[in-house]
Amino acid sequence: MNGSPRILLGVTGGIAAYKAAELVRALVKEGAEVQVILTPRAEEFVTPLTLATLSGRPVARTEFTPEPSPTIGHIELARWGHALVVAPATANEIARFAHGQADDLLTTVYLAFAGPVVVAPAMNPKMWDHPETRENVERLRARGVAIVDPEEGYMACGDEGAGRLAALQTIAAEALWAARRSTSLLGVKVLVSAGPTHEPLDPVRFLGNRSSGKMGFAIAAAAAARGAEVVLVAGPSRLAPPFGVRTVPVTTAAAMQAALEREAADAKVIVMAAAVADHRPADAAPRKLEHKGESWALELVPTPDILAGLAARRPAGQLIVGFAAETHDALARGRAKRERKGCDLLVVNDVTAEGAGFEADTNVVTLIGRDGAADAWPRMSKRQVAERLLDRIEAERRSR
Ligand code: C5P
Repeated sequence: MNGSPRILLGVTGGIAAYKAAELVRALVKEGAEVQVILTPRAEEFVTPLTLATLSGRPVARTEFTPEPSPTIGHIELARWGHALVVAPATANEIARFAHGQADDLLTTVYLAFAGPVVVAPAMNPKMWDHPETRENVERLRARGVAIVDPEEGYMACGDEGAGRLAALQTIAAEALWAARRSTSLLGVKVLVSAGPTHEPLDPVRFLGNRSSGKMGFAIAAAAAARGAEVVLVAGPSRLAPPFGVRTVPVTTAAAMQAALEREAADAKVIVMAAAVADHRPADAAPRKLEHKGESWALELVPTPDILAGLAARRPAGQLIVGFAAETHDALARGRAKRERKGCDLLVVNDVTAEGAGFEADTNVVTLIGRDGAADAWPRMSKRQVAERLLDRIEAERRSR
């Protein structure tokens, strides 16, 4: 990115709003330009004058200005910012984001903003734990919003538990990071596969696997937040399609292959995070099969290796990343697999490790490069794995 990162900082009406003043200072100190957007309730806790003085810009407070102004309309604000950061975010504002309401300046900017969004909630622990809040937060996460989880501690209301605004340094780092990367993959087509495949035996049964799609969906959302044109070919998954991503739903390995091959030619990066079935039933019966009381031998035939096929026919300059879920000898198997499949990078994870694998929100992975060199990453959220993997992909693209 050339020039300073431009951050839209939404401040909402909770007691932690007083901390926004320090956050503005921290961001400005790091070289960011900060435009504060204050909700009417936040003004009860912190004054526009304080935030305007610290940011060096008039605070944006309402979508209605006395005269048309090119600088503070919500669309202009949305165009100006590299990242939208909301700290503190109340349960109310999170609910309104999650349901697409646009009844104040901040919610309106949220809807008009196409770049990365960082939300740092702060509220009473019971409000944070309430199923409505949890559901709203998950909706935002599914749309690629980075949630800076609140911390445990003693609250202003006297309660104890999770709900206190995260450390300002953590929020500032997320904010700067999001703003600096918001355009790093602009104009680059990234093709991602995710989830399991289901291979039908008959109209009611299938062979599948335990992949949730979380890893691939996180990669797709993170690439979109960097400005990439993202196509996500997704096997059956309960996850909501990420915002800003073209999602192509598929069921079988054959359908996944067809969709990927259709999209691959102009992709600059392909990430195969899907857990594709290696075998499928030889024939899918048109009617429900009956084998009551008898043993039943299934005939399975291999599916094509999609990744190996894409790698063998790739256009010049295309970077291909594979994944491997292993249960033993992860590193040796990963190295051999990378060579066999011909991809540039292979992300290996031992799905039996704690905090790793299919259903988990975290992952423990080792990255294997072309020279066989292994880079073992500590346990981190799948979103963090996605971001770090994209950093590596960007570095590989630069070094070519
Ligand atoms: O051989 P294995 O299934 O462990 O390989 C995993 C990698 O290969 C993943 O990137 C997966 O998406 C890809 N794969 C594929 N086609 C298959 C099986 C796996 O592209 N039939």
